[in-house]
Amino acid sequence: MTLAELDAQQAQSLGEVAAAADAAALEQVRIRYLGRNGSLPAIIKQMKDVPPADRPEFGKRVQAWRAALEASLADRMAGAGTVKKEEGAFDCTLPGRWFAPGAKHPVSRVIEETAAIFARLGFTVADGPDIENRFNNFTALNTPAHHPSMDASDTFWLTGDLLLRTQTSPVQIRMMTQYTPPVRIITPGRTYRRDTTDATHSANFHQIEGLYVDTKPVSLADLKSTLAYYAKEMMGSKAGVRFRPHFFPFTEPSVEVDFSCHVCGGKGCRVCKMSGWIEIAGAGMVDPRVYGHVNSARGDMAYDPAKVYGYAFGFGVERIAMVKYGIPDIRWLYENDTRFLSQLA
Ligand code: DAH
Repeated sequence: MTLAELDAQQAQSLGEVAAAADAAALEQVRIRYLGRNGSLPAIIKQMKDVPPADRPEFGKRVQAWRAALEASLADRMAGAGTVKKEEGAFDCTLPGRWFAPGAKHPVSRVIEETAAIFARLGFTVADGPDIENRFNNFTALNTPAHHPSMDASDTFWLTGDLLLRTQTSPVQIRMMTQYTPPVRIITPGRTYRRDTTDATHSANFHQIEGLYVDTKPVSLADLKSTLAYYAKEMMGSKAGVRFRPHFFPFTEPSVEVDFSCHVCGGKGCRVCKMSGWIEIAGAGMVDPRVYGHVNSARGDMAYDPAKVYGYAFGFGVERIAMVKYGIPDIRWLYENDTRFLSQLA
């Protein structure tokens, strides 16, 4: 075989690779040239018949041919598994696009359900800013000037009298300074405290505040029946409430509110720490001194402490979500892990 014949065969083989329609045709080309009985091994065997002067060059070209042929075969094979895609054509061999469906976040869920339940009792949703001032967050809520909750170790102070609200209670003050009784609102929102994060604490959490003030007598019994209704709607028809005496600066009398444990029905279990009750809220009758602060801000006597009656309550949204859905760690609520979130779908 001459060098020219060798070059012609090389060109022929590469042309066949280029023309092969599919993987099977490529395999045929490979066998024809590189297989045990293929052209290349045969040519190498016949090297002895090449004139000695041409042999080194012949050998070099044979090696170069093999390398070029293997490379172009590998190249075509890599793309041979997929159907040749025309512009705009649907490629049915591509893996499908998988949408991981989310679900409403437990915190949003509790807020929306709570708003719907209280809407049936005539409460509207009120809103207030996350950045509050000292008056609304502390002073008007009758918090003594040197109360520890005002310390920089507990509250995120901004500049001057501004702070990140530590509770949703300041929205009570905002509503009363804007509206005259009756005021019947709930306020879901973010709150901030310098708490170290652990399984039950977060520096940024949510509360729902409630306030009902009227010129007709409103009593602790009304508060209890309202919260009992909420407990049943939220936790199931067997849920009940109990009040324990407590202290808050802005209510008098003040109570802490427990829901009967919805998991064991009050018998005692892990969720309620064997007590049958779960602490849920703080509440009480609005302290007349709060009305005094509201009036001083309004410049009138719209909230005459002798003529208005009101109750207030406040609870943690995460706490309700954790007991309702059996979530053991508050941090799960902030990780946005769809393996967790999708379970409530
Ligand atoms: N703001 C209180 C807290 O963050 C909760 C609270 C207690 C709200 C009693 C109220 C209330 O409206 O009457 O701990």
